[in-house]
Amino acid sequence: MIFNNINEAEKDPILGLTEEFKNDLNPQKINLSVGVYQDDNGNTPTLPSVLEAEKEILNQNISKTYKPIDGDKEFIEESIKLIAGEAIFPEIKNTSFGLNTPGGTGALRLSSDFLFQFSPKSKVWISNPSWPNHKPIFEASGFDVTSYPYFNSESNSIDFENMISVIKEIPEGDILVLHGCCHNPTGEDLKGDQWDQISEISKKNNLLVICDFAYQGLGDGLDDDAAGVRKMIRDLDNIIICSSYSKNFGLYSERVGCLIYNSKFEDNYTPVLSHMKKTARSNYSNPPAHGSEIVKFILSNNSLRSKWEEDLSGIRNRVKDMRSLLVTELNNERCSKDFSFIENQKGMFSYTGLNKDQVNSLKKNYSIYIVNSGRINIAGITTKNCKYIAKAINEVI
Ligand SMILES: Cc1ncc(COP(=O)(O)O)c(C=O)c1O
Repeated sequence: MIFNNINEAEKDPILGLTEEFKNDLNPQKINLSVGVYQDDNGNTPTLPSVLEAEKEILNQNISKTYKPIDGDKEFIEESIKLIAGEAIFPEIKNTSFGLNTPGGTGALRLSSDFLFQFSPKSKVWISNPSWPNHKPIFEASGFDVTSYPYFNSESNSIDFENMISVIKEIPEGDILVLHGCCHNPTGEDLKGDQWDQISEISKKNNLLVICDFAYQGLGDGLDDDAAGVRKMIRDLDNIIICSSYSKNFGLYSERVGCLIYNSKFEDNYTPVLSHMKKTARSNYSNPPAHGSEIVKFILSNNSLRSKWEEDLSGIRNRVKDMRSLLVTELNNERCSKDFSFIENQKGMFSYTGLNKDQVNSLKKNYSIYIVNSGRINIAGITTKNCKYIAKAINEVI
């Protein structure tokens, strides 16, 4: 019988750490491993703009009947506008479509399942390192997943020379996964001219780019963070963008994301959309509605949108402040290693360069929980715990 021969699946390393953290009795314990925003009290709040939208939505007594397979039209239009920007939107609105998906993960999996039906021999190229769920998502559809170099741990910066030389050799028709901004896990983003070069090669070599855009607004701002994605939309014949509202709206558990497809060929629109819908139908059928109602409500209402942008800049600025504070506290400890690179990285995560032994020692001796790669969630740092973290890091080094 099937069930008698199943071994236990490998544990998710981050969830396993959180379990250990819960059982740790040290009152000074700190969890820097999970990927959610926390405020200066260590809480993950619902944004005030989101609460206000929820109250309005409740008052409107909206029906809970099924949404269309691709989601609500206005939500999709607002999503495309947010990503493409007001300037590009008129140019692309007739050659783009979106599907409201269950989170950014849902958008990635839908892209992957769709592409595997039509191009099963393509390889999927992800950055090394990348978000740990990229590989399993594309493998689950059946793809072979491989990687291109991304990070130089000696210099704590992008290894662009090696990255570009590998990307140049990727065979035509393969799939290139890029992080739109706030690269997870390193916090190191591509610069303007680097986007130019990658865009040029992708076009020349006919690579299909999937841009994973899970952190718009958490780096430098909604427009600045979209610069690379917008460049690719303008340059490439075909592109898929997988956006997420988990982080920038704090709607983690509501599962709101959007798959956006743009093509320079108008004829692609209808057949591609029809197969994407067919793929979605046999998976989750149609998207959850509460989160996407909130996003639609906020993005289409000037006053609520300004409030949300303020909430988002609060998140962004706190993360930036914690980057600076950590570097200051490490300097105050007269730490022998230069950590100034942490201040220049973007988004919630940072690759600290701490090795496995140092990570273990932080857990064992200081109850500070970090994933083995040395990635920390900067949003887990507060004005109260930063000194303790800096002292502990200095001591394990
Ligand atoms: C790089 C990256 N892509 C996609 C996602 C998926 O986000 P969601 O929670 O919306 O599925 C995450 C979430 O952590 C992420 O870090």
